[in-house]
Amino acid sequence: MSPPHLLARIRRQLSLALLALALPLAACTSAAPAPPLYQQLGGVENIEAVSRAMIQRMSTDPRTKRTFDGINLRTLSASLAAHLCKVADGPCVYEGETMRNAHADLGLGGSEFETVVQILRDELDRTGVSQAAKNELLRRLAPSRRDIVTADR
Ligand code: HEM
Repeated sequence: MSPPHLLARIRRQLSLALLALALPLAACTSAAPAPPLYQQLGGVENIEAVSRAMIQRMSTDPRTKRTFDGINLRTLSASLAAHLCKVADGPCVYEGETMRNAHADLGLGGSEFETVVQILRDELDRTGVSQAAKNELLRRLAPSRRDIVTADR
């Protein structure tokens, strides 16, 4: 084989080898799975901070505070954090009631529920959670509306 042909062959084989190396690398970066939702929400720590802020606001906002008399706010925010973390596939253990049982005696109306959803949105925004992660959490919580809202108000 003459030297120019030999050179061309070596070049071809080298570029094939490079391609063989580069393809799996490209596949790796594009197919990396998204982190679990609780991590997209800033992890357990941020979910706890958001829950504390929510309970603080829910228990003082004139539109939502009426059901919080005599409730232990510290215990409630820990329970809310565990619930949200679990809904977001986090490593938390939720030991509280079902949403139906927890809210059964409160006679909550749709407007109270919407206000709480808005408070949750605000707190997720304030802590820099992405729109996509926020919307996914809200999408997962939406079905609980029918268990929580039991009155017209
Ligand atoms: C997406 C909406 C909501 C979620 C995910 C949620 C979640 C929770 C959780 C996890 C608990 C604790 C249950 C337990 O530890 O057994 C709870 C209790 C409670 N929630 Fe909600 N909640 C929501 C909406 C609301 C709304 C709209 C209000 C009132 C405006 C409200 C008021 C309360 C109160 C007062 C308790 C304590 C009940 C008691 O200890 O007797 N919640 N909620």
